[in-house]
Amino acid sequence: MLSHNSQFEKRFFKKMSNFFALSMTKFFRLIADTFFAKRYGHRAIVLETIAGVPGMVAGTWIHFKSLRKMETGYGPMIRELLNEAENERMHLMFFIEITKPNVFERWLVLFSQGIFWVFYFILYVFFPKTAHKMIHYFEEEAVKSYTEYLHMVETGEVENVSAPQLAIDYYKMKKNAKLSDLIKKVREDEQHHSEINLKYSEK
Ligand SMILES: [Fe+2]
Ligand SMILES: [Fe+2]
Repeated sequence: MLSHNSQFEKRFFKKMSNFFALSMTKFFRLIADTFFAKRYGHRAIVLETIAGVPGMVAGTWIHFKSLRKMETGYGPMIRELLNEAENERMHLMFFIEITKPNVFERWLVLFSQGIFWVFYFILYVFFPKTAHKMIHYFEEEAVKSYTEYLHMVETGEVENVSAPQLAIDYYKMKKNAKLSDLIKKVREDEQHHSEINLKYSEK
């Protein structure tokens, strides 16, 4: 049984961890809102290039951990995290067919990938639960953003163009699937990432 003091420390650390994860999410949300406002196509492209980072960093780290410890049992988590990274990369490939990023956005991607990769790696090595909690919040924001994007498409503010063939094949959607169908599928993926990362943050 934990002593009163260590229970207090545990609760305090959990609160701090949550505060950090939430603050980082608000900070990144503010940056995204400032840069993109309602240009959801562009927003999706740039943010999906970032979203593809955490799963790969965490998956690689857990893979190495399994090698170092010479222990089994890490397989499902490694596969889930690498699948998340692959899934985010596919999101990018779908939206790149719909909107093309400008030169400034390409530079922004290059710059943010460098920074975010290192930042997330350090965070993951020392505070993996906080890292997963942060991604849980990021994914919740992604669900909100895709809901807003979907609303604009459904109300005609953004043209409901045909979904790219790559997305139709990937999700096995009907041949005449539209952008609105694609956004719903992507949003489901983000919801899944959110739940998985919440689970890992509590393990
Ligand atoms: Fe995504
Ligand atoms: Fe996601």
